[in-house]
Amino acid sequence: MRARGKVALVTGGSRRIGAAISRALAKAGYEVVLTYLASAREGKALAARIGGSAVSLDLSRPSTFGRFADRLVRKFGRLDLLVHNAAVFHRTPVGEISPATWDAVFAVNLRGPLLLTRALLPLLRKGRGDAGILFLGDANAFELWPGYLPYCLSKLAVPPLAAGLRKALPPDVRVGVVRPGLVLPPDRFPAKRWERLRASMAARRGIRTPEGVARAVLLFARAGSYNRRTDHRQGGVQ
Ligand SMILES: NC(=O)c1ccc[n+]([C@@H]2O[C@H](COP(=O)([O-])OP(=O)(O)OC[C@H]3O[C@@H](n4cnc5c(N)ncnc54)[C@H](OP(=O)(O)O)[C@@H]3O)[C@@H](O)[C@H]2O)c1
Repeated sequence: MRARGKVALVTGGSRRIGAAISRALAKAGYEVVLTYLASAREGKALAARIGGSAVSLDLSRPSTFGRFADRLVRKFGRLDLLVHNAAVFHRTPVGEISPATWDAVFAVNLRGPLLLTRALLPLLRKGRGDAGILFLGDANAFELWPGYLPYCLSKLAVPPLAAGLRKALPPDVRVGVVRPGLVLPPDRFPAKRWERLRASMAARRGIRTPEGVARAVLLFARAGSYNRRTDHRQGGVQ
């Protein structure tokens, strides 16, 4: 089923998993708006390839969200799917956690998505029904990796955030979570360590390819057309 005329926003949609999601949604017929922060060149090139748009957005600066929403209102006048893909994965060993490093992680991984949702809610509720908000969690966050404790805590809070929004928002706005497993190593992560991690039993859970994550996003996007309350635990969407 093609999503003709529907608009999807993918935060951090220029590279890596976000790029796979942007491509899949465009292929499914969505008008894709992807956001970038540092990856302007990749974002604009990908948007040109998939016939979408690339817009700059810094999730750590909520004071800019109103202007960002106005821009979407003027250009598209609707929003059908909001994919909260952007995140930071800063290495922060416990001995090095400072108020600034803690805040930097939570600002992008949790506060930004919540406040961006708030800013875009009027656009998501333009009366066409069937709007969706999808968060990217992390199937391994409860491993509480010592070098990434703030990241893990921020991602553990994503499903409860989605559940809280599900309760708070009207039923015409569906809210879901996709929880990838070990999909792609962070830039400059030692390759051998990544292979060891991927091979370990504990880390075998969750979706493990960018295309698999993109398929789960499509599953969520399409579920609205037949069942608002579909629970896709098996497919990694909740
Ligand atoms: N990679 C994995 O194996 C894995 C596993 C489990 C869960 N996940 C989750 O899946 C999602 C995508 O993973 P990924 O590894 O592809 O992510 P990523 O490369 O670490 O980050 C995605 C994008 O987030 C954007 N971003 C960072 N800070 C931002 C800010 N302040 N404002 C706006 N955008 C910002 C960056 O955009 P620019 O490049 O334009 O700066 C970046 O390209 C994340 O939510 C991640 O937590 C990933």
